[in-house]
Amino acid sequence: MQKFDKMHSVFITRSYSKHYMSSLEFYRNAYAYDIAFGDRDFASECDFLAWCLAQHGNLPSFATGHATSFLELACGPARHARELGHRGWQVLGLDMSSDMLEYAARGARQEHVTLQTLCADMCDYRLGQPVALAANMMESLSHLLTNQQIVSHLRAVGSNLLPGGIYVIEMAHPSGLWRDSLPNMWTTSHNGTEVDIVFGLQDDPYDWITQQWTVTTRLTIREPGQPERYIEEHNNHRWCQPQELAALIDLSGAFDQVWWYGDLLIPPPPLDDSEDAKRMMVVLRSKGA
Ligand SMILES: C[S@@+](CC[C@H](N)C(=O)[O-])C[C@H]1O[C@@H](n2cnc3c(N)ncnc32)[C@H](O)[C@@H]1O
Repeated sequence: MQKFDKMHSVFITRSYSKHYMSSLEFYRNAYAYDIAFGDRDFASECDFLAWCLAQHGNLPSFATGHATSFLELACGPARHARELGHRGWQVLGLDMSSDMLEYAARGARQEHVTLQTLCADMCDYRLGQPVALAANMMESLSHLLTNQQIVSHLRAVGSNLLPGGIYVIEMAHPSGLWRDSLPNMWTTSHNGTEVDIVFGLQDDPYDWITQQWTVTTRLTIREPGQPERYIEEHNNHRWCQPQELAALIDLSGAFDQVWWYGDLLIPPPPLDDSEDAKRMMVVLRSKGA
C-alpha cells in the first residue's frame, strides 16, 4: 500500500511540476508551418475521410442537409477543410491558435472557399450545429497530454457529431514511435521561401511516468529579402499506444464502434499489416449527444 502511495505521489509530482513553453509560439509561424508540413496529398487524404463517412457512418434521415458538414480539429492551416470546401462541403476549422486560424481563413478567402473558424480548445467546445464528419490530422492529438484531456476531447467530439457521424484520427503508426528514426529533418520551399525543419532529436527527454516526450522543434526560415530566422522550441507531446487509446475511447462512452487502419488509402490496410501499415488511423462512430 505504501508502495502504491509513493508511486501515486510520483505520478502527481511529475505530471504537474514541469513547465514547458506552450506550442502557441511555434504555431504563430503559420506560413512556415504550412510550408514545412504542406507536402501532403490533401485531395486523396480527403477522399479517404469522405470514404470513412460513406463506409462507416450511419446518419439519421433528418441529417440529409448536414451530411456533408465537416469539422477539422486542431486544423492549423485547415488544408483538409479547404479541400472539402472546394467540393461543396460546409466546412469549419477549430484551433486554439488565432494566428493559425487567421492564416487558414486568409487561404480560404483566396481560394473562394467559405470556411468558418472557431478559436477553442479541442477538449471543450460547442458548435452551433453538430457535423457529420470530424477529423484530427497529423498527430495533433499528441498535444493532449493526460488521460483526462483525451477523454474530455473525445466526449466533446462525440457531442458535436450527428448520431452515426464519424470522427477520424490520424496518428503515427505504433511501430514508428521510438527514437530509431530520429532526428527527423527535412527542407521544403514555396514561392522562394525555404524552411528547414527538425522535429524530434534522439536525446529529447521521454518521461516514462507521464509518457510524454519533450520534443525539440527547430525551424530555419529563409524568406526572400529577409534575414534568416531561427526558432527553437521544446514542447510536450504524448503519442498513445493503441491499447491505451482504445481504453480511453471506451471510457469516453461517446462512440459505439471503432475501426483501426494502417493508412489513408482506399481501401485502407489493417493496422497490423506489416508491409503496408504506415500510419494509425482510428475511425470512430458517434453514439450522438
Ligand atoms: C501539427 S498542427 C496540425 C495542423 C493540421 N491538423 C494539419 O494537418 O496540418 C497542430 C495544431 O494543433 C493546434 N492545437 C494544439 N493543441 C490544441 C488544443 N488543445 N485545441 C485546439 N487546437 C490545438 C495547434 O495550434 C496547431 O495548429
